[in-house]
Amino acid sequence: MNTSIAIPYLDLAAQLRPLRDELNAVITRTVDNCTFCLGPDVAQFERDFAGYCHAKYAVGFNSGTSALHVAMRLLDIGPGDEVVTTPMTFVATSWAISYVGARPVFVDIDDQTCTLDPKLAERAITPRTRAIMPVHLYGHPCDLDPLLEICRRHKLPLVEDAAQAHGAKYRGKVVGTFGALAGFSFYPGKNLGACGEGGALVTNNEAYAARARSFREHGSTQRYYHDEIGYNYRMEGLQGAVLGVKLKSLDQWTQARRRVARRYHELLADTPLQLPREADYAESVYHLYVVRHPRRDELKRHLEADKIGCALHYPVPLHLQKCYASLGYQAGDFPVAEKAARECLSLPIYPELTDEQVGRVAAAIHDFFK
Ligand SMILES: Cc1ncc(COP(=O)(O)O)c(C=O)c1O
Repeated sequence: MNTSIAIPYLDLAAQLRPLRDELNAVITRTVDNCTFCLGPDVAQFERDFAGYCHAKYAVGFNSGTSALHVAMRLLDIGPGDEVVTTPMTFVATSWAISYVGARPVFVDIDDQTCTLDPKLAERAITPRTRAIMPVHLYGHPCDLDPLLEICRRHKLPLVEDAAQAHGAKYRGKVVGTFGALAGFSFYPGKNLGACGEGGALVTNNEAYAARARSFREHGSTQRYYHDEIGYNYRMEGLQGAVLGVKLKSLDQWTQARRRVARRYHELLADTPLQLPREADYAESVYHLYVVRHPRRDELKRHLEADKIGCALHYPVPLHLQKCYASLGYQAGDFPVAEKAARECLSLPIYPELTDEQVGRVAAAIHDFFK
C-alpha cells in the first residue's frame, strides 16, 4: 500500500472523467441551441428524475434550498406558523421555514441514524404546527412510518428533505413520495450532482407541481402576468443536460458507495468508533460515511496529518447557531444531537474510492487508536 498518496475527502474530477465526452457533447448542444434557462433538457430530466423517484412530477430548481423554500410556499406556511424539524442537518432545511417567516421547532434525533426521532416529534406539535420536515441525513432515510402516522393523526403534511438521499429506500421504496413534497439537491458533491447548483421538488400532486413551476418563474404561468409573488428559481438548461447524463450512472454509483461503506464496516469493526448502521427499514445511499468518537478532533488532526481528507457534518446543531439565537434554545436542549455534533467525523466516501484507499484510511484510524 502506498502510504504517501493523499486521499481527498471528495474527488469530483474522478467521477467526471469517464463522462467527459458525453458531458461535453450535451454542453455544446445547449450552447448551440441557447437553451439556458429551463428548456428541453430540463423538461426531459424532470421526467427522468420523476421516474427515478417513482413519482408523477419532478420540478427542477436552481438549488435544493429554493425547492424546499417553495415547498413551504406551496403549503401556504407563513408568519406565526411552526414546522417541526431536526437540529442535526444542513442549515438549508430550516432556511426554508425561516424564509417564509415561520418558526422552526427542533426535535432531538435518534442516536443510531441521526435523523429526527419520531418518539419525540409528537410532543413538539402545537396548534400552530403546519408541517413536519424530517431529513434523510447522510443518505439514510428517517423512520417515515411513525412520522406519517403522527401527520395523519394531526392532519399535517410531511415534507421530506431528501437533499442527501437520491434513491435511498425506506422499506424497499425509494424516498421522495412518502410525504406531500420532497426536496432534492443537485449541488456538485451530492450523490447526483450538477456542474453547478440545482435542485428539484418531487410530488404526486398535480396542483403542487403546477404551482411550483409558477413560483420558480416569478409567480407566472403566462409571461409578464404574475399571479402571486414568485422567484427566479429556474433550473439552468446546462444543469438539466448534465443531470440527464449523470442520472444514468446513479444506481451504479450508489452500489459503489454501498461497497465502500461495507468495506469500512469490516475494517473498522474492531475500533472504538461508533460506526453508521442501517436501520432494519433502511437502504442507505451513503452520501456520507459518518463515524463517531469523543476524541473526534484529535482523530481528524491525525488523519489530516496523514493526508486523508475528512469533514464535519455538522459541528454545530441548528438550535445553537447564532442565526437562531432569537428562538431561545439553550445548550442541553437536544443532548443526542449535541453529542453527535461533538463526535461526528465524515470519512472519504465516493464511488471511485478504491479498496486500497479505504484500506489506507482504516490503517490510519487503527494507527490512531494503537
Ligand atoms: C440536508 C440538506 N438540505 C438542503 C440542502 C440544500 O441544497 P442546496 O445546496 O442545493 O441548496 C442541502 C445541501 O446542501 C442539504 O444537505
